[in-house]
Amino acid sequence: MDVPVPRTPGGYQVALVCLGNICRSPMADVVLSARVADAGLDGAVAVVSAGTGDWHVGDGMDRRAAALLTAEGYDPTAHRAQQVAVAWFDTFDLVLAMDEANLADLYELDRAGEATSDGRVRLFRDFDPEGPGEVPDPYYGGDAGFRNVLAIVERTADALVAAIAEAIGD
Ligand code: 4NP
Repeated sequence: MDVPVPRTPGGYQVALVCLGNICRSPMADVVLSARVADAGLDGAVAVVSAGTGDWHVGDGMDRRAAALLTAEGYDPTAHRAQQVAVAWFDTFDLVLAMDEANLADLYELDRAGEATSDGRVRLFRDFDPEGPGEVPDPYYGGDAGFRNVLAIVERTADALVAAIAEAIGD
């Protein structure tokens, strides 16, 4: 799937959003950032993540998520949880929700309705070659849930980087 046109030509800004910003969106942030760097686009493409909730603001990544990322060759140590801000709807090219509840919360937050009407606020897995769908919340489950999240975010990140590279004319 194509990504929306960049707000600023030549660059792209992506925000990834889940509930707590300690499991799914941080995993997606670390993986997508790694793929962006691998593609040589780290000067042009910015990736951040946030939660719709504020319970974990300032916390590092969930230990299970961090351990899996480390085992798979990623660096999860820089992550600190933050809450999504309404101003993001005016600045980010894409705001991608991990599940339908996160998306509904974003629509609620975007009272002006500007971002939600132009396709910039949508589900992350709209870009999954095996999607669409949700990224299931692994927080209350076991290791298999985290491995499933990683598989989803890896293939979706690959597709997103290809689409963003095309959109910014790289
Ligand atoms: P995340 O997972 O939204 O993928 O970061 C969760 C993290 C924390 C909670 C729920 C989900 N929580 O209820 O604290």
